[in-house]
Amino acid sequence: MDKKFKRTLVTTALPYANGPVHIGHLAGVYVPADIYTRYLRLRGEDVIMIGGSDEHGVPITIKAQKEGVTPQDIVDRYHNIIKDSMEGLGISFDVYSRTTSDMHHKTASDFFRKLYDKGEFIEKTSVQLYDEKADQYLADRYVTGTCPKCGNERAYGDQCEACGTSLNATDLINPVSAITGNTPVLKETKHWYMPLDKWEPKLREWILEQHKEWKPNVYGQCKSWLDDHLQPRAVTRDLNWGIPVPVEGADGKVLYVWFDAPIGYISNTKELLPDTWEKYWKDPETRIIHFIGKDNIVFHCLIFPAMLMAEGSYQLPENVPANEFLNLEGDKISTSRNWAVWLHEYLADFPGKQDVLRYVLTANAPESKDNDFTWRDFQARNNNELVAILGNFVNRALVLTHKYFGGVIPEAHELQDIDREALNEFKDVKETLGANIENFKFREALKDAMNLARIGNKYLADTEPWKLAKTDMTRVETIMNLALQITANLAIAFEPFLPFSAEKLRGMLNIEACDWNKLGEIDILPAGHAVNKPELLFEKIEDEVIDAQMQRLERIKQENIVANFKPKAVAPQVTIDDFAKLDIRVGTVLECSKVKKSDKLLEFKIEDGMGGRTIVSGIAKWYEPEELVGKQVCFIANFPPRKLKGVESQGMILSAEDADGRLIVIGPTGPVKPGASVG
Ligand code: MF3
Ligand code: ZN
Repeated sequence: MDKKFKRTLVTTALPYANGPVHIGHLAGVYVPADIYTRYLRLRGEDVIMIGGSDEHGVPITIKAQKEGVTPQDIVDRYHNIIKDSMEGLGISFDVYSRTTSDMHHKTASDFFRKLYDKGEFIEKTSVQLYDEKADQYLADRYVTGTCPKCGNERAYGDQCEACGTSLNATDLINPVSAITGNTPVLKETKHWYMPLDKWEPKLREWILEQHKEWKPNVYGQCKSWLDDHLQPRAVTRDLNWGIPVPVEGADGKVLYVWFDAPIGYISNTKELLPDTWEKYWKDPETRIIHFIGKDNIVFHCLIFPAMLMAEGSYQLPENVPANEFLNLEGDKISTSRNWAVWLHEYLADFPGKQDVLRYVLTANAPESKDNDFTWRDFQARNNNELVAILGNFVNRALVLTHKYFGGVIPEAHELQDIDREALNEFKDVKETLGANIENFKFREALKDAMNLARIGNKYLADTEPWKLAKTDMTRVETIMNLALQITANLAIAFEPFLPFSAEKLRGMLNIEACDWNKLGEIDILPAGHAVNKPELLFEKIEDEVIDAQMQRLERIKQENIVANFKPKAVAPQVTIDDFAKLDIRVGTVLECSKVKKSDKLLEFKIEDGMGGRTIVSGIAKWYEPEELVGKQVCFIANFPPRKLKGVESQGMILSAEDADGRLIVIGPTGPVKPGASVG
């Protein structure tokens, strides 16, 4: 590892305490940060990982208003859910605090005051959007409107999520208040601004010249912002939830959430290390790494660094490895639409399977582009990779050791070519895997670890110790010794990724701790050492379990569609004579079958009291043919016959279209003689 640094400070974006954390947060920030931190710890480095809840900001106040509770109620609820669930997944924060803590209020307030006293702010009275009905200024998420840059009609007052532009509320075209739905008016108010334009040359030099190694998605976003030129940004708001602006005459004003939240990293470090926190922030020998999602790039690469430069005594981050977004089953994850896999629910639904989620989220991490989480992929990776490759190898190695050697590691004798080949394949694993983690390529690093298990499996398959056991026990001793050394390698290599399984594995191998420096070696376990009985590391996940999760998502999708359903406008008026022209009858379905070469059409034989007729209807997507047999339906009897996929249809079966486009066939509520008129 880079000798320039004596210690590492890992920060993780502080999740808003307006909802639980979901797989998108995990894949984007917490799992990679945890892998990175665990890796450094395993190497014996001085590293701390800082987390906490972001408890200010408009989304929290909006949620509180909606539920008729206080913002404090909201953040208390979610802070606890988030903290417990992260712990449940083994995200190994050294501290997980919150921005409503006294320590944070004081730290952020002092930080602001220092910049204020140094004359680092511009004080400006300007017109802001104001909701007269709510008697409140509107900023950030309190206002939506059309993005001036890309035309997205649902841009927020702080950012357009469609094009990523960061905005001021007054930039929005046709702004609408999120509280009342009213069109806001303009009203004067005084605020303090960070003159980001002043810092632009320094930020340019620092990022564009000195940090060309940053991930292309991060570097590219920074470059595009810098090329567009930075404007002064207000760092205070007219709100009653947040940290009061520590200046005379600023009543009713608080620090902008994006001013206070990143200072939370500092406050939480202070909380963790009251006496020594400064060396993690102010000593050039500390490497500061911010793990964030891509929507946070501007705040961590431009605004917060400008704040730190203005303050003067802090180090800037060494890297900001932002991830892209993880989608869920093809759709953008959304807290408000409940389109997510929530961590606390996962932990309840899949007890003991923390590492499966960690594995899948790492294997699919949106490192360089948006990625998709699907339950089928989750199942496949568990069954085909964790169970079939990793679990299988470990189990075989231990079972055979018990079978042939009573659980005591045998001596290795002279190596053969096949042994040397296997060893050769993983002798560089420490360097490659380590370099991948250090370069934030966690997917690749995970593959390096998994490759060890593949090598192990192949080695056992090629050497077939179970056959040799009849003829050449000396050879079996060597093979099993090597197989166990590979198992010990797995315990080291997987520790950052799958800490629960690595711990189990250490238990099975009867070893206390792992030494990273031993990775790639074959003398980790001494001959004569007794190992414990194997237990299953992973178990197969059955279809039913996955189906249940898919059904839950399907239900949410339906709920969202229904929640957003608006009946269409009523058609122009008609007279009773117009209506009478349609001959609507009741008929009984005698037979129903699929129309060949069509996935939409069903063919019905209808008893209509007039000799019967055939009707073809486009409802195959929603009905199994046999479902409607025997039921009574309404149909239009006097449409001219027409051919559909070669079948002549003599009428049209009536149906209602549900919110989600599903067609539901209409019939009488009680039995009626076939052929009865409807009117
Ligand atoms: N709460 C923010 C979000 O979820 C992240 C805040 S990161 C911090 O997007 F730096 F401000 F803490
Ligand atoms: Zn836009």
